[in-house]
Amino acid sequence: MSTEGRYFIRTYGCQMNEHDSEKLAGVLKDIGYKPADELAKADVIILNTCCVRENAELKVFGKLGEIKQIKKENPGLIVGICGCMMQQEEVVNKIKQRYNFVDIVFGTHNIHRFPELLQEIKAENQSLVEVWDDSREVIGDMPTNREEDHKAKVNIIHGCDNYCTYCIVPYVRGSERSRSQEDIIKEIKKLVADGVKEVMLLGQNVNSYGKDLGQDLDFADLLTAVNKIKGLPRIRFMTSHPRDFSDKLIEAVTNLENVCEHFHLPIQSGSDKLLKKMNRGYTKEEYLDLVTKLKAKNPKAAISTDLIVGFPGETEEDFAETMELYKQVRFDRAFTFIYSKRTGTPAAKMEEQVPEEKKKERHQRLLDLQSKIGLEENKKLKGEIVEVLVDGPSKKDPNKLSGRTRTDKIVIIESDQDLTGEIINVKINKAQSWTLFGKIVN
Ligand code: SAH
Ligand code: SF4
Ligand code: F3S
Repeated sequence: MSTEGRYFIRTYGCQMNEHDSEKLAGVLKDIGYKPADELAKADVIILNTCCVRENAELKVFGKLGEIKQIKKENPGLIVGICGCMMQQEEVVNKIKQRYNFVDIVFGTHNIHRFPELLQEIKAENQSLVEVWDDSREVIGDMPTNREEDHKAKVNIIHGCDNYCTYCIVPYVRGSERSRSQEDIIKEIKKLVADGVKEVMLLGQNVNSYGKDLGQDLDFADLLTAVNKIKGLPRIRFMTSHPRDFSDKLIEAVTNLENVCEHFHLPIQSGSDKLLKKMNRGYTKEEYLDLVTKLKAKNPKAAISTDLIVGFPGETEEDFAETMELYKQVRFDRAFTFIYSKRTGTPAAKMEEQVPEEKKKERHQRLLDLQSKIGLEENKKLKGEIVEVLVDGPSKKDPNKLSGRTRTDKIVIIESDQDLTGEIINVKINKAQSWTLFGKIVN
């Protein structure tokens, strides 16, 4: 099958979804499709969906409304919808009934079937729905169209077994399944041969890696093996569950020179009462202990986190504990979310749901604290020389370069050279809450 057509993929949600979209784009490119720069110019549109919070779902339905109009003018347009939302039966039913112009529906466990589904739709011109449960998953090799040449995402474990009481992910991504170390290493070696300088090892809880393989192998061992690959100066991973960050892993991230000094450790709340209700499996003290140990061994490490505001039963005192913990840890960055009720999760049925207004007001207080502390921490870097991997021209100012430090901070660099994919040293001369600015030094 070869074509002259154009594709547009819109991705919602996390890095897992972004990576799946890179695979879908890889398949489309392989059969001759080229990217379209806007929805209306595409012959194939794919929405890769997320359902972690209600607003992610609302955005998808809004987009479908837009696509409906486009399809009226271009009946040959193929519309596909996939991702986490499609693992929920009621969503698939709604799409079949209310959005019957959609041609292909598939889930998170069968994205490798996308090439065949596309071929079938082209041949038969009849809509197709194929959503699998996780029991049949084949983690096949798929062509991948990486967003950036010098950086790559690599799945190491699929699914999640944690069942935090607010979270839909285990229901839509299935149970934990680790890829074999051999496959992972083979994939990374190929990426390095292709010019990749940084890999992001992906999983909902990378610290669970290996538990299901029945070998004597854990995430620290995997990191040790990846660190041995020559020509790969940067290794990142996401996400680490604080409960499973063992002392062995602390040693590994400290001693393995290519593992970046950035740890994303979602705390969710600073209140032990809420952590328990969330089924997170650690206390505030245990979390603080982990951060203290990591910082003692890696003084320059950056710590980021995820926080939920307005979980059922959150009182003003609980929220004050979250604010206090934030001040204690002084996170470099945080992703803060307003609690969103997800049907089918235990928290959705809990009493004492927090009123919307209160959630918003607490969220704003947390955002203000976050940018204040972010700025204070970043200012400490003024005058320092940091290592930056250049991502390319800055989006805001194309005459400057944008890149990331090993601690995952964004740096805008004065330079008119094209240094995309290069690792350079930069002296920081200005700091904002989320961005650093600097000049190249030799
Ligand atoms: N596996 C990762 C992240 C999963 S989803 C982890 O455990 O850390 C990313 C973030 O979304 C979570 O860390 C949590 O902060 C947030 N989140 C998940 N479900 C949510 C919900 N129902 N409402 C609001 N935020 C939620
Ligand atoms: Fe969701 Fe918890 Fe699993 Fe993260 S660890 S994906 S928050 S259930
Ligand atoms: Fe969303 Fe699915 Fe990721 S629900 S956060 S895209 S695993």
